[in-house]
Amino acid sequence: MTERSLAPTTASTSESGLSGPISGGALSPASFGSGSPAVKIEAVSKSFPLPDRTFVALENVTLDIAEGEFLSVIGPSGCGKSTLLRLVAGLIEPSSGSLSIGGETPVQARRRGELGFVFQEPTLLPWRTALENVTLLTEVAKRGTKAERRERGRELLELVGLGDFIDAHPGKLSGGMQRRVGIARALALDPRILLLDEPFGALDEITRQRMNMELLRIWTQQRTTTMLVTHNVGEAVFLSDRVLVMGTRPGRLIAEVKIDLPRPRRLELLQDEQFFALSAHLTGLLFSDPPPEESGSDE
Ligand SMILES: Nc1ncnc2c1ncn2[C@@H]1O[C@H](COP(=O)(O)OP(=O)(O)OP(=O)(O)O)[C@@H](O)[C@H]1O
Ligand SMILES: [Mg+2]
Repeated sequence: MTERSLAPTTASTSESGLSGPISGGALSPASFGSGSPAVKIEAVSKSFPLPDRTFVALENVTLDIAEGEFLSVIGPSGCGKSTLLRLVAGLIEPSSGSLSIGGETPVQARRRGELGFVFQEPTLLPWRTALENVTLLTEVAKRGTKAERRERGRELLELVGLGDFIDAHPGKLSGGMQRRVGIARALALDPRILLLDEPFGALDEITRQRMNMELLRIWTQQRTTTMLVTHNVGEAVFLSDRVLVMGTRPGRLIAEVKIDLPRPRRLELLQDEQFFALSAHLTGLLFSDPPPEESGSDE
């Protein structure tokens, strides 16, 4: 593999460097459509009322996600990653600022089936088969006929490598297989945006890497704009076009790093020095944020 420098990565540990939209210039127009961003997040903050005070979970997040981009978000526990994803999904409202998905609010986009959400836990219905779990959302949304829904469900289960398990109940599937059903279910609505909250967090390394390969294959086929929350720096580098680093107290973006590694990405990449360099760089950025006890916390 040819040597490449880390120069194309755009990383900043200064908050001020991230006060404007941080995606636009960093992204290659060859990789993504030149149209307006798929997701636009402008000066979004989110606070939660506590009995004695207001807790700022996210502060002043501004971010564009390009159409077809694979974006990952890493950061310490409690820095607001899931909160950010839930805001994009329209499951919670920002305290200030605005979010738009193709010109619509997240709630409108979700109601129209534009968003696929994969939760940290598979959350499958145990009494329904794999296929019946995958068709659940299209059934509720009354998309197509029953036969069409089942046909699409079968295709998606094939896509995630579970063609032989369409009639299996979740109790008969391994953790990794259940997560794949969760991904097929999220894809069933043909979402424009796929939101993944640590979908492979609880899996062993080998299964996680297999799932990553599966996810990349699906993304390559469908080019669904994807936002992945993960604690795993290597996973973020391996999969993404760009990685956002968040800091805590308050939760905020502290850096972005463009992952300028060639695609398609293969397992050999995990042994590549550029991969190591980017992973080390991101790990350094994660540790550059002072831990809560040193940060003059809000407690
Ligand atoms: N509904 C809520 N009410 C009060 N506080 C909340 C609520 N939801 C989240 N928080 C707080 O906001 C902060 C960010 O939570 P969030 O779940 O987004 O973190 P995270 O980065 O996803 O963490 P993890 O990596 O552990 O999943 C946490 O301190 C959490 O306690
Ligand atoms: Mg979380």
